[in-house]
Amino acid sequence: MSERPRVFVTRRLPGDAVERAREVAEVEIWPGDSSPDPGALRAGAAGADGLLCLLTDPVDSALLDACPRLRVVSSCSVGVDHIDVAAATRRGIPVGHTPGVLAETTADLAFALLLAAARRVGEAERWLRDGGWTWERRWDPEGFVGRDVHGGTLGVIGLGAIGRAVARRAGGFGMRVLGWTPSERRVEGVEAAPLSEVLRHSDFLSVHLALTAETRGLLDAAALEGLKPGAVVINTARGGIVDEAALCAALRSGKVAAAALDVFESEPIDPANPLLTAPNLVLTPHIGSASIATRTRMADLAVENLLAGLAGRPLPHAVNPEATG
Ligand code: DGY
Repeated sequence: MSERPRVFVTRRLPGDAVERAREVAEVEIWPGDSSPDPGALRAGAAGADGLLCLLTDPVDSALLDACPRLRVVSSCSVGVDHIDVAAATRRGIPVGHTPGVLAETTADLAFALLLAAARRVGEAERWLRDGGWTWERRWDPEGFVGRDVHGGTLGVIGLGAIGRAVARRAGGFGMRVLGWTPSERRVEGVEAAPLSEVLRHSDFLSVHLALTAETRGLLDAAALEGLKPGAVVINTARGGIVDEAALCAALRSGKVAAAALDVFESEPIDPANPLLTAPNLVLTPHIGSASIATRTRMADLAVENLLAGLAGRPLPHAVNPEATG
């Protein structure tokens, strides 16, 4: 009887997907409630044929060198900026991810944040809980006045599945939608425009790009300077695309009226990060895909990729299909 493949899974996952992996492989699941540190990741993956990881697990060239048996890396995420894909490809290791299944859920959060930032929802809730809502101030004609979302212009940066799902939601709010994407893709209902024009004309800007060498710092101080004054900026894609220091400065100067971030240059956010004291900023802890159904579908897809890789079949969703020809 041939030896069953070994798999290291870096966190417990929702649903029963991992049970399917157990039918064909010896599965070790990192037991903690937090990600394994780099040493534990290396120790767990070292003897594995398959690695099922999260976006919090850095899979770099040194880790791959330490895992001579590895035949597949499957990430339970759509983004793969935590993986050195080129290094995996050079070693003939396919890398799987989970596109498609989280687009609508992430678009829901982008829109929730857009509404919350525009209508000052977080600020108003904090004020109420802190006892600010007194009889004397029970209705203030100028209290918490924000910006109308309906009828505004939304700029969508990145027109992949999530960007397109956000654009569709904007249609329901009677918004004009401008869009820019590096691939120059055309999308029905979205007016394609150069990045500078999208920045100049948008009341709301929502970012939906992968983090790559090209997109890192795309919305830097100069880009934010090119925004329509009083714009609202939303990022549910990846930290690093919007320059945090520049955004803080733009919020303080009023150039950006409000913003909402679900993703950060470094996660978790450092308690000393100036974003925590910047005005008119809604912050959430990277929860774009966090619905029960979507996280379960992501786990299902990650296991499908893993099992395909172990069986030597093409992955249903590989970011580097060229790795295995
Ligand atoms: C991903 O899958 O890359 C998302 O950021 C998780 O929500």
